[in-house]
Amino acid sequence: MHFSLLHQATPSTEALIVPIAQKTDLDTILSLVAEQAGVPVDLIKNDFKAAAKEVHTLYFTEKNQSKRIFLLGLGEAPRTLDVLNALRSFVFKRKASLPANLGLSFLFKNAPENPAPWVEACVNGLLLGLYDIGLYKTDKKQEGNTEFRCEVLVDKSHKASATEAMQLGEAFAHTHSQIFDLVNAPANKKTPQVLADWAINSGKQYGYKVEVFDEKKIQELGLHALIAVNRGSERPPTFIVMEYKPKGKALRTIGLVGKGVTFDTGGLSIKPSTNMHFMKSDMGGAAAVLGTLEMAAKLKLPLHVVGLIPATENSVDAISTKPGDVIGSYLGKTIEVIDTDAEGRLILADGLAYAVKHYKPDVLVDLATLTGSCIRTLGTYAGGLFSNNDELVGKLYASCDRTGERLWRLPLWDDYKKELKSDVADLKNFSGNPSAGAITAAKFLEEFIEKHPAWAHMDIAGMAVADSEFALQKSATGFGVRLLIDYMKGLIAETA
Ligand code: BES
Ligand code: MN
Ligand code: ZN
Repeated sequence: MHFSLLHQATPSTEALIVPIAQKTDLDTILSLVAEQAGVPVDLIKNDFKAAAKEVHTLYFTEKNQSKRIFLLGLGEAPRTLDVLNALRSFVFKRKASLPANLGLSFLFKNAPENPAPWVEACVNGLLLGLYDIGLYKTDKKQEGNTEFRCEVLVDKSHKASATEAMQLGEAFAHTHSQIFDLVNAPANKKTPQVLADWAINSGKQYGYKVEVFDEKKIQELGLHALIAVNRGSERPPTFIVMEYKPKGKALRTIGLVGKGVTFDTGGLSIKPSTNMHFMKSDMGGAAAVLGTLEMAAKLKLPLHVVGLIPATENSVDAISTKPGDVIGSYLGKTIEVIDTDAEGRLILADGLAYAVKHYKPDVLVDLATLTGSCIRTLGTYAGGLFSNNDELVGKLYASCDRTGERLWRLPLWDDYKKELKSDVADLKNFSGNPSAGAITAAKFLEEFIEKHPAWAHMDIAGMAVADSEFALQKSATGFGVRLLIDYMKGLIAETA
């Protein structure tokens, strides 16, 4: 889809999409629309209530050309994510019949005073509506148009901010669709090397540094926990180091660590088979880090952003790490592996320790599809947030509100720490006690941050993939990218 910003529709525009929230001046908006289409306003008022995702189509002729107006409801007080999803849903459902020349109009007083956030969300949604999950389908024939033009129509006075917003929406949508592909890809198409190649390509395209450690280097460096998880896998691990530096002075260094388990069988503590196929998405944390680095580079943020991804499969083999085995770690602590299915915390332990030692970031954040316990606690409505820094939590919460990507804080009290005591090693990876599993997992990670004063752990097990109208099965959400970018923009605004 090709976008342009105008303040008046060109004659070739075949259909106008008019997003409308349910608010008090709905009447004014509908009157203006009715006037343009030359249709009776009372009927429209009766038939269209602007409920979320409600679509009402008006047909009219203008200079002998047949035209449409799509009134698109956004519901009451829509957040940006609601606006995005309304547009995404609209395009997704009617791809096959949508005219090639579209207009997205904000000229009917149908947007907030500053329409920029809506422009961004709408453009983003329009593009994601065209996202095709059928990566490996052989029959690619598509109904309807494949090329779309879209005029984004705003008042002259908003031209500059809306142009920027439009570009931002496009940038996010492109990065997100790539991340979707990665998370939706099955494990036989997505090895640790594939994640590494993605990073390398992105780094080349957007001008940031990417270094990939191979198995030999991982051994040499002493990332023992990553090696231990990888033992049962036919495919070697990778440790991906991404580093974006701004041209000028970096206001802060942000360290991001993402869990990159390309498939989690559970290892010898093997998982039941019913939902095991979803474990292809056990690299959702890694995907968020990849996407955030790419976006930070695209947006040229004045921050130093480091992304680290320990990547491996967790598989079953005669030489797999066995329950009870004692392994080493990058930090030097020894770990008794009670359950080989608690593998995420092992590889993150190495990632976190490496981040602290080599980059001393001002803020350290890790994202991981870490525990089923987190899903049992918060459902698929919020990710778990763990942090030793109240100020950081406050800022992340603000970003959650703005982006609609929700997190909820859970405690890190030391009472939970005793669950990690081992008889034979410095600590164990699982207590055997299934209660409060998300918290004990976070306590485990805390052992590897070397008392870093501003650390946040996001357990996104319930968020990385989700049921939606866009796919038959759970599919990628790209959770975390918008949240982290918003958080970083906030940091910049506050420092500037
Ligand atoms: N990748 C899983 C967590 C998970 C479960 C993510 C369901 C998404 C959906 C993780 O590696 C895991 O297996 N965690 C175990 C830990 C337990 C053995 C201590 C869990 O949560 O059951
Ligand atoms: Mn596991
Ligand atoms: Zn896992």
